Formats: sequence, structure tokens, C-alpha cells
Amino acid sequence: MSSGPVRILAIDDEPVVRESIAAYLEDSGFTMLQAQNGREGLDMFRREKPDLVLVDLRMPEVDGLDVLSAVRRESPGTPVVVVSGTGVVQDAIEALRRGAWDFVAKPVADMAVLEHAVAKALERAGLLRENAVYQTDLETRIRERTEDLERANVQMRATLAATINSIATMAEMRDPYTAGHQKKVSLLAEAMAKELGLSEDRVACVRVAGMVHDIGKVCVPLELLAKPSRLEVHEMAYIKMHSTWGHEILKDIPLPWPVAEIVLQHHERMDGSGYPRGLAGPDLLEQSRIIAVADVVEAMSAHRPYRPAMGVGLALAEIAASRGVKYCPDCVDACTRILGPDGCIENAFCLLP
Ligand SMILES: [Fe+2]
Ligand SMILES: [Fe+2]
Repeated sequence: MSSGPVRILAIDDEPVVRESIAAYLEDSGFTMLQAQNGREGLDMFRREKPDLVLVDLRMPEVDGLDVLSAVRRESPGTPVVVVSGTGVVQDAIEALRRGAWDFVAKPVADMAVLEHAVAKALERAGLLRENAVYQTDLETRIRERTEDLERANVQMRATLAATINSIATMAEMRDPYTAGHQKKVSLLAEAMAKELGLSEDRVACVRVAGMVHDIGKVCVPLELLAKPSRLEVHEMAYIKMHSTWGHEILKDIPLPWPVAEIVLQHHERMDGSGYPRGLAGPDLLEQSRIIAVADVVEAMSAHRPYRPAMGVGLALAEIAASRGVKYCPDCVDACTRILGPDGCIENAFCLLP
């Protein structure tokens, strides 16, 4: 809307009517523009961009309805008030259907009625403009706030990833015999999760859980972890506590995934023969079943203080033998597809001792 006085374009082929309207509205403080037919009116509308248009319906060349449609199309925020003497209800209905903001019948016996229609239409146009500004402002603020949140989220995930990495590194620095084990389990479990078609979020969860699944071993004395001979039963029982301790260490970190629960479950087995709770298949998280298989395969493939590396082939044979008993069949199949004879050799690299 232009600043200064409100400008109104009156389009009517009857000079007497047009001029009397213009004179009345000029007295009320409006600046009037006049056109004597639809074509001239549209030209003037495009050139002058008035704040409101008054238009007669029946005019030679371009009639009022066409003017109305063109204004509506080109400048939907400009109010158009139809002033017509045709006196047919159908005309009024058609005008309103095409987007007229109001309809005043001619002859205009009382100019105050026309002025009231003009004032009402201008007020409504002003409100619509304010609303549009408010809407744009709101959208801008929502967009900015969303971007802030996304940035904070990326930052938070980066911080969490760094924290997880530090925790994993700390555990592995202390225990050189399983150094790299968590990283390799994480890589294999991630590949299995992708192979199984898990969502991106669950794949990320599996990757993180793999990185820290043995974190509870920081509570196990080094001499037990590094013992070069077979462990006694009571020593084994002590080591088996590591999944519970891992859960204790992780349970209060506000991760967006159930990592602590997965760590607690990573030695559970499908038939309930695992530890610490003896949970069976249906009670195990999908991510825990994946980590369990990746863990066994990596551990068997690699060298241990009490035995040499057994290799990927033997590890795959072990999980195949217990497929559907101790290990989730889908996870065994996915792992075999990744590491088996037909598997992708690059994937197998992560398991080489
Ligand atoms: Fe473990
Ligand atoms: Fe492990």
C-alpha cells in the first residue's frame, strides 16, 4: 500500500455516476483516479497501483467482471468493490464468486453506504496485510529456531560420539589384549545392522553400543584379563560381571538409544542360556542380538592370551552350529553373507587380527 492518502480507482462508463462518486470520496480525503471503461481501467490499475478499485459491471470492451478477475489474479490483496446498476442478483453473486470484496447497487442513493463499503474493504485489506507480515515473521522465527535446534543436535551428537570414543579408548588402553576388539565388533555389527535393513537411527545405535559393549571390563583386574591360561570357574564368574558393570557405567549417560540395556544383554543367548539374566529371544533387543553375534565372531577370530587366533572360518562355523539356538538366525545369516566365502573382502578386514 502506498504511503500518503488512500488512492481509489473508479471505473465506470457513465461520467455522471463516476464523477459524483469521485467528488464525494475526494471530500472524504481519498485521492481519486478515474477510467471510463474496462480497458482504460486495467491500464490505469497496472500503472498506478491504487489501494482500492471501484468497478461497474456492464461496460463496453472489457466488462467489469473481466476487470475484477484480472485484478484478483494480478494483485489479490487489492480490494475490488463492485458498483453496479444492473440490479440483477445473479450479477452480484457472480461478482462475489469472482472475488469482489463487496457489492453496492446503483444508483447510489446514499453515498455514505458506498463510503462505508470502501472503509470496510480497506480495513480488511489492512488486516490481511498485517496478518501476512505476522505470518512471514513467524515462519522466519520458526525456521531460525529449527536451524538452532538442528545445530545444537548435531553438536550434541558429536559430543556424545567423542565421549563414547573416549570411554572406549580408556578401556582398551588399560587392556591391550582386547585392544581394538570393541572397534571391530562395532564395525561388524554396524555392517550387519545395515545388511538386516535396520533404520539409520538403529544402525547408529548398534555402532555406538558395539564401541562400548565391554566397557565393564575396566572393573575386572588386569591379571584376570591377561591370564595366559584357562580361567577358574570363580574367575570366569567375576569376568562375567562385566556386562552388569557396563550397564552401571552407562545407564546415566543421556544417550538417545538404549545402549546401557544392549550392553547388559550382549552375552544373553536366544535359548536363555546366556548371562546375567538368562533372557530368551523374544526378550532381547534386536541390537543386542546383532552385537552378540558380532562379538562372538570377532572374539573367536582374534588372538587371546590363552589361545591363538582361530580365524573367521571357525568363528562362522561356530555361529552356524548354534544358529537359531544361541544366536538369532537372521543375524547369523547376515554375518555369514558379510564374512563368508562370498562375502565382501573389505568387510572381513575389520576382523583380521
Ligand atoms: Fe563382553
Ligand atoms: Fe566383547
